[in-house]
Amino acid sequence: MDDFTPTFDDNIAAYMSNDPDYLSCKKKECKKYRNGRCLVSTCGGALSFHVINIRTDIEFVLFSGGFEAPCILKRSSPVRFATPNKPLYGHLSSIDSTGTSIRLTWVSGDQKPQQVQYGDGKKQTSQVTTFSQDDMQSSALPSPAKDFGWHDPGFIHSAVMTGLKPLSNFSYRYGSDSVGWSNEIQFRTPPAGGSDELKFLAFGDMGKAPRDGSTEHYIQPGSLSVIQAMADEINSGQVDSIFHIGDISYATGFLVEWDFFLHQISPVASRVSYMTAIGNHERDYIDTGSVYITPDSGGESGVPYETYFPMPTPAKDKPWYSIEQASVHITVISTEHDWSQNSEQYQWMRRDMASVDRSKTPWLIFMGHRPMYTSAEGLFSVDPKFVFEVEPLLLQSKVDLVLFGHVHNYERTCTVYKSQCKGLPVKDENGIDTYDHSNYSAPVHAVIGMAGFTLDKFPTGVNNPWSLSRISQFGYLRGYATKKEMKLEFVNADTRKVEDRFRITKASSSN
Ligand SMILES: [Fe+2]
Repeated sequence: MDDFTPTFDDNIAAYMSNDPDYLSCKKKECKKYRNGRCLVSTCGGALSFHVINIRTDIEFVLFSGGFEAPCILKRSSPVRFATPNKPLYGHLSSIDSTGTSIRLTWVSGDQKPQQVQYGDGKKQTSQVTTFSQDDMQSSALPSPAKDFGWHDPGFIHSAVMTGLKPLSNFSYRYGSDSVGWSNEIQFRTPPAGGSDELKFLAFGDMGKAPRDGSTEHYIQPGSLSVIQAMADEINSGQVDSIFHIGDISYATGFLVEWDFFLHQISPVASRVSYMTAIGNHERDYIDTGSVYITPDSGGESGVPYETYFPMPTPAKDKPWYSIEQASVHITVISTEHDWSQNSEQYQWMRRDMASVDRSKTPWLIFMGHRPMYTSAEGLFSVDPKFVFEVEPLLLQSKVDLVLFGHVHNYERTCTVYKSQCKGLPVKDENGIDTYDHSNYSAPVHAVIGMAGFTLDKFPTGVNNPWSLSRISQFGYLRGYATKKEMKLEFVNADTRKVEDRFRITKASSSN
């Protein structure tokens, strides 16, 4: 079911008095007069809702009093989905750096294993998992996830398609004869680690927004235009993979919003590998071992995130990993788990980055959620302890580019270390800022949390010497890497214009 149009007749007047424009009242009639004045009038209106298949019955409720003091005026009878077991919201992720295997994860109301069928007659059977209300956390204060925002996630199916060729197009469908099949979908495998060219998109803090003007507890207004712009790029064959670095759906304990998010990203995540990092809005909660003791995940504590987005991580609740695609080694960390120098995660990132063969993958990109540098104001945007513990390792490992989100805008630095510019880019013949990493001095940082959440403005009069470009617009980072250079562009999703561009070059592949 995609669109459902309930019509309301009586009782509408009370609602209209609170929100007179919402239903565009038509055919107004007075039903009761006193002393020539109309006491009770009626009118009619219609609303259209964009509804996705969330497997469970839906009721439409008309209420007055706003969200603070809701009073039910009219309640529809439950509306059923004709196909609650339908396989839905398939999305892809890499499991390794070969480009020959890719994982498909999807959702269904049915627990029985299903299949993905792909290529020329290949098939794989799904592993099935889910999570329960008992897996959610609560505290002295009730949490959405456990106490009032719970929604049954159905079953999450996952299967790895193997025997593929890197950087090639294949098709698949998923489901079973008993629950039905998805449409046939075309997808592209990422390039193998060590090959030359990679075209990727990266961003943070996207979330979702309703398509029908309705209200929910958290809305990220830029997400629809960002998804549309990225889908257009994928349709033109210009994207090999995607990285979404934390603050994924902003469901934050209102579990049904994961389904809305998965539906929204389908046009891109079903077509190319969609790799993720965890953010505070997936992980943080009181007494659950997150670095930051905040209720930001609404009690989810990373459980839905890890179920919907299985990444090649070492274990449950250790959401760090690395992957190589063409000439780039990408190290993905969790800023929400212990990163102090004696922690397991720190030791892992140190080993991971030390082991990179820079003749095979000359570029090292480091990704996580919370930034080390931002000019946007806001308490707690940058944790000085995180910078103190981890920044020296970035320099020591000769990281080329550091990508973070969390702050909702775009900002690019010089090559920076301990807030000092170690090197400035030089304009190339096309006027593009070019960093020469043949003569490595320090990483370039970019904040790319501008993919959906309401934007953070920059204060006037920023004079951080390390800040070279600051843009508060919705969009995403477009990257193109060969062994000799990386080109990065910040794309405005509404105008599709490139608002900032820079290059990092390397004369030879030995570093
Ligand atoms: Fe965040």
